Amino acid sequence: MQIDLNNIKVFIEEDYDKLSKKCAEVIKAQMNSKPDSNIGFATGGTPVGTYKELIRMNAEKEVDFSGITAFNLDEYYPILKSDSQSYDYFMKDNLFNHVNIKKDRLFIPNGEAKDVDLECEEYEKHVMSAGVDLQILGLGLNGHIGFNEPESVFTGKTHHVNLDESTINANARFFNSYEEVPKSALTMGIKTIMMAKKILIMISGENKAEIAEKIFFGDITPFVPASVLQLHPDVTAVLDKEAGSRIMKRI
Ligand code: GLP
Repeated sequence: MQIDLNNIKVFIEEDYDKLSKKCAEVIKAQMNSKPDSNIGFATGGTPVGTYKELIRMNAEKEVDFSGITAFNLDEYYPILKSDSQSYDYFMKDNLFNHVNIKKDRLFIPNGEAKDVDLECEEYEKHVMSAGVDLQILGLGLNGHIGFNEPESVFTGKTHHVNLDESTINANARFFNSYEEVPKSALTMGIKTIMMAKKILIMISGENKAEIAEKIFFGDITPFVPASVLQLHPDVTAVLDKEAGSRIMKRI
């Protein structure tokens, strides 16, 4: 089912598998229409199915990553790239090691940087000068995009951020304990994200239904960072039925 909500094309899919296939189709369309696209990739549990589908499409020659440049949204700080919880590791493990993307076309904020502010400044310059054609986003339970937590300014560039208690709790499921979750991160800012030509946001699961409703029907406010997407001219949102349940009740 497709609907337009506050300027955003919203697809509500039957289940997570269909959501993943739909998102992979959107990314494929971008790659096939512009084989040298700059794509902003996201981490988290939600995109894993989409990345699996892209790996299949690449193996079956439906998509070609050889001209693609990747810019990742965010990274924990500090963290070693070799740490299995780093987003650097996640992206290689879940996508980049399994497709024909060039290794020198992968850009991820450096969680090992000594000078964190300089790293953010340089990453921002790099992303801005290249220009992102399609930015992929997941959604935090508190409405964050990247690691732009509630109350982040809409003018924010790539920066170093302290994570919210709720984000640390949500991400603790990937670690052995709460203590092990890094308490800060590097993230593209909201302005960096909004400068992308197109945005694809994927939202899955019942626990995201309430925040999804706020994004599409609520006020545009820094208290719900993803609500800023209502101001972007080309956003596609793909939800599964669980995440879209409250939206469906309102339409
Ligand atoms: C992390 C990432 C976000 C991601 C969010 C949602 O906090 N920094 O970019 O969107 O998790 O993750 P999940 O898809 O696992 O719910």
